[in-house]
Amino acid sequence: MLSRGPGRFGRVGDRRVVLQPFELTGALGALPDDLDVAIWDGTGSPPDGVVERVDFYVMPYTFATVTAEVIAAMPELRIVQTLTAGVEHVLPFLRDGLTLCNARGVHDASTAELAVALTLASLRGIPEYVRAQDDRRWEHGLRPSLADRTVLVVGYGSVGVAVERRLVPFECDVLRVARRARDGVAGYEALPSLLARADVVVLTVPLTEQTRGMVDAEFLSRMRDGALLVNVARGPVVDTDALVAELRAGRLSAALDVTDPEPPPPDHPLWSAPGVLMSPHVGGNTSAFLPRATRLVRDQLERYASGEPLANVVTWRPR
Ligand SMILES: NC(=O)c1ccc[n+]([C@@H]2O[C@H](COP(=O)([O-])OP(=O)(O)OC[C@H]3O[C@@H](n4cnc5c(N)ncnc54)[C@H](OP(=O)(O)O)[C@@H]3O)[C@@H](O)[C@H]2O)c1
Repeated sequence: MLSRGPGRFGRVGDRRVVLQPFELTGALGALPDDLDVAIWDGTGSPPDGVVERVDFYVMPYTFATVTAEVIAAMPELRIVQTLTAGVEHVLPFLRDGLTLCNARGVHDASTAELAVALTLASLRGIPEYVRAQDDRRWEHGLRPSLADRTVLVVGYGSVGVAVERRLVPFECDVLRVARRARDGVAGYEALPSLLARADVVVLTVPLTEQTRGMVDAEFLSRMRDGALLVNVARGPVVDTDALVAELRAGRLSAALDVTDPEPPPPDHPLWSAPGVLMSPHVGGNTSAFLPRATRLVRDQLERYASGEPLANVVTWRPR
């Protein structure tokens, strides 16, 4: 049993605390003697007397901004572990001396699965079939197949690699682009020419200063007529107004797990734009999350306890 000392939600005196969102079942390597474990899943306030003593904070997966804000109230904090792959929501609350680790890898299977599901659904017209079924209409017609299409994966990291692995059995060609060119992966500068070759463009980049607004009117204009944009990265990577203009012109279609704004307000043009399929930012929010998140947290706490370097350390600039 991991929790020790005076209880999960009670005061923990002057001992250091690991604050995490769920219990870890099973044995864990010994933690230092002066360390307690407390649980906070992001609902309500953190347990009494804990915030002042937190040394290692595993942020809950949900309530991203609220649970990130708590960092500012943790004077003894040394390590922040997110359960998201993206960390842009945490950066404003970091300070010098903190180590930030993300959940790279935890969401790969689930997010890549959704990227492929959105791609297949859009190409094959599943949303139209569902609407037709609701109206008892039998709408037979020709649709593009994923087979023989060229898919460009923009961001060839943990999620991008997982997307490609799932695309390959569909008999499509996959092109890859990342920041830096390497064997089989083009560098950022090759993006314009690659866009002109792709039938489907899947975004799997982090939200950074470089990628914010990366998919602007010029990026979209380089995409082929009839091409599909799939965004499982972050909403602000795409200039929404520029995308809506292309959708309304009927030149491109889009499948978006993430949007800007998110969620779009009820009167936002994205809701009614032609050729758009949206899911409510659920790339990682599936049954695949808990087992993988638990493995990561366990592994990190064992590293921490034994003094080994932590995994998934993110380089960030102190503010
Ligand atoms: N929809 C969801 O629920 C969901 C779930 C999980 C993740 N995500 C999003 O997916 C992002 C990626 O996660 P990950 O774990 O795959 O990250 P990662 O392993 O760090 O990979 C990021 C990739 O993006 C590339 N990249 C960064 N800036 C780029 C740019 N300007 N142009 C082209 N490529 C660029 C990197 O290039 P290099 O390899 O050259 O460094 C790397 O290949 C996360 O940050 C998160 O925002 C969304």
